[in-house]
Amino acid sequence: MANNIQAIRGMHDVLPDQTPLWQYAEHIIRDVLGAYGYSEIRLPILEKTELFKRSIGEVTDIVEKEMYTFEDRNGDSLTLRPEGTAGCLRACLEHGLLHNQVHRLWYYGPMYRHERPQKGRYRQFIQLGVETYGMEGPDIDAELILIMERLWKRLGIRDKVRLQLNSLGTIEERLAYRETLVSYFQANITALDEDSIRRLSSNPLRILDTKNPAMQQVVSNAPALMDFLGAESLQHFNGLTTTLDSLGISYEINTRLVRGLDYYSKTVFEWVTDELGSQGTVCAGGRYDGLIGQLGGKPNFAVGFAMGIERLLALVETLDNIPVARSVDVFMIRVGEAAEREGLRFAEAIRDAVPTLKLQLNCGGGSFKSQFKKADKSGAEYAIIIGDDEASQGEVSIKPLRGVGEQQTLSQALAMDFLQKFSS
Ligand code: HAM
Repeated sequence: MANNIQAIRGMHDVLPDQTPLWQYAEHIIRDVLGAYGYSEIRLPILEKTELFKRSIGEVTDIVEKEMYTFEDRNGDSLTLRPEGTAGCLRACLEHGLLHNQVHRLWYYGPMYRHERPQKGRYRQFIQLGVETYGMEGPDIDAELILIMERLWKRLGIRDKVRLQLNSLGTIEERLAYRETLVSYFQANITALDEDSIRRLSSNPLRILDTKNPAMQQVVSNAPALMDFLGAESLQHFNGLTTTLDSLGISYEINTRLVRGLDYYSKTVFEWVTDELGSQGTVCAGGRYDGLIGQLGGKPNFAVGFAMGIERLLALVETLDNIPVARSVDVFMIRVGEAAEREGLRFAEAIRDAVPTLKLQLNCGGGSFKSQFKKADKSGAEYAIIIGDDEASQGEVSIKPLRGVGEQQTLSQALAMDFLQKFSS
């Protein structure tokens, strides 16, 4: 027997019993973004490799070892997007959207990183990304945090996540800091692991992000970037924290928060949880004003975030009573030739009159008993039953499948009223 072909490691199917949970969260996400006047943008999954090298940075884990890159039939180097910020900005520059304009955008879809799969870390994962352009002040940074806060609240997970904030300052401020940091780590080189020694010359700020417990002390004693910020960067950061304070939004300042992508400046943030093991960052982002110029645009302002939906749903799933929608409200049982014909006609009439009702029809025949089993399995609240007798009388029976109540036989007109009331 031939071996069955299986999905690619780290890439998962979302099976029908899981999709209601996804749709529930997606519905709330759209609602919340709509409440702040954000517009959806849809972007290709493939981009030129150069785009990611120039934006995320050559010396980052993503570009060095995690991208799905290949040559297409023309010999062009293409990459499955590992994130959405670069593609979104590419699209806006290409279509001239950034010229003297302000934008608030979101996208939703799969991203690809060849990481070592584990719980909460996949090779294909879904991100909600939010990007804003053209706004300099910290009020837009605060707005993004408010969006996330509202989303946590709507999903019932506000107490499961906490906000960490930092400022990475400007490129010049970071360069000055980098020198001091390298000297500090060189003076403490025996405390560094192999990976950190390698990063010392390529990307020393990333050493601060190490998960190695043996390095926690050397990292916590390292000089803080916050002490190297100039007046303007400090003012921006204080503007954000003052706004958050005035709104009663709690946060921790984490001076070691540096992010794994190179394009950030000033504000950076992560929402972390203790409930998902080592993959505890649910949502992350920050300001990246410099990237627009780097990709060939006229210098402008940009700030955004992205959220891993698998991680978000893993948190939602820790709750009791998640109000996900049913896939089927009513299941129609038809037994007999005349009943099958009449049932199909009536089902279409119901769909005309009550378009929001989810009505599933039994197809493929079967006894009352076997059709009742299918009705029960469908998750429906009610069964509508039509036998040949009911069909000839223009009647149907309605039976509650979950709650209490008796089966009742009604005229089709009364049954329609009943379904209309149930659906509203
Ligand atoms: P990121 O920190 O690389 O940032 O990813 C954002 C979120 O995507 C993470 O916090 C996590 O929830 C999720 N995520 C990342 N990798 C994986 C994975 N392998 N499996 C499951 N979930 C994952 C960005 O992507 C930036 N583009 C964020 C941004 C937008 N900054 C400004 N605008």
